Amino acid sequence: MNVLGIETSCDETSAAVVRGGTEVRSNVVSSQIALHRDHGGVVPELAARAQLTAIIPVVEAALAEAKLELDEIDAIAVTRGPGLAGSLLVGANFAKALAYARSIPLVGVNHLEAHLYANWLVPPESESTQPEFPVLALLVSGGHTELMLMTGHGRYAHLGRTLDDAAGEAFDKGARLLGLGYPGGPAIQQAAIGGRTDAFALPRAWLGESNDFSFSGLKTALLREVEPYRLPDPEPEPEDDAPFRKHRPPRFAETLPVADLAASYQEAIVDVLAVKTARAAEALDIRQVVLAGGVAANRALRERLAGEVDLRAGAMLRVPALMYCTDNAAMVAAAGYFALRRGAQSGWELDVASRLPIGGSDS
Ligand code: KG4
Ligand code: ZN
Repeated sequence: MNVLGIETSCDETSAAVVRGGTEVRSNVVSSQIALHRDHGGVVPELAARAQLTAIIPVVEAALAEAKLELDEIDAIAVTRGPGLAGSLLVGANFAKALAYARSIPLVGVNHLEAHLYANWLVPPESESTQPEFPVLALLVSGGHTELMLMTGHGRYAHLGRTLDDAAGEAFDKGARLLGLGYPGGPAIQQAAIGGRTDAFALPRAWLGESNDFSFSGLKTALLREVEPYRLPDPEPEPEDDAPFRKHRPPRFAETLPVADLAASYQEAIVDVLAVKTARAAEALDIRQVVLAGGVAANRALRERLAGEVDLRAGAMLRVPALMYCTDNAAMVAAAGYFALRRGAQSGWELDVASRLPIGGSDS
């Protein structure tokens, strides 16, 4: 079964064809990073409009790359939330029209669930198999940090979540404080190269035995470290009053120890994520752990988490290939395939939802 996946929840327009829920035949991602960079983050209205212009070329490119015609597509899976409503509407409306015109099944997919299913995208020629339940899943993206137990396809038990900022948000806000730009995760990872992870004693919110996370205190601690190096802001420029305001990064004295600060900050995030996840794996006697979401692309997290789950729980960590960590439609097609297999087809009344919990009755 060939599923066409469509992902437009935020600032990436993506379309992919996946066969049998695991074999990626194409995955095309058009990123809007350049469009939002000057603003220091995603501007929702600009994002929605860019989705509108990109969607048709991106879907055409995904079909061409898969060497398939539209009539060889058996079903369409589209992200219905969570995300930016304007962006989500573009993909959902397009997917609906296409499925209606072709009279093929349509399934609305939860974006967070799709991130988890990136771990099912196993190349057919590879030795590796699909994850085996029960699976402990750490989902770390720009808007979410969730630790959950997956007991079967589409079956989730929530163990913990962030009480304030998501892990990706912590990277993004940290990068902003350091004047490193957007998106923050890759910028911090890059800046941290050669830095000392123990140069600054930044706080970790362990929260006792709880499986929840908290990153807002860490951000405040970083702010306190950079403040002494901060130079006065320049005079505002006329374009600062434009409808979509330009972001003016903070300026610092040259002595700002950027690499040490970035390395210590990244380590503080990774430390808590890795140790708490490994502890949960140990307590639940879980043998398989999966990592997912944009922050799963972080090299330090991938390495540290693999080490911790092995050490504490004798468990194996699975991580998606880098291109399937950040937003992409292959993961949407995979999640859609498994949802269709359990009979979760959507009707033409499918709507988008900017907030959408994973595993709820509404997902
Ligand atoms: O999953 P994603 O692409 O979009 C959401 O669903 O939110 O995740 C984006 C987040 C951003 O916060 C970005 O800074 C972070 O993932 N990210 C990273 C890395 N690459 C992306 N964080 C740390 N290290 C990275 N290499
Ligand atoms: Zn995402």
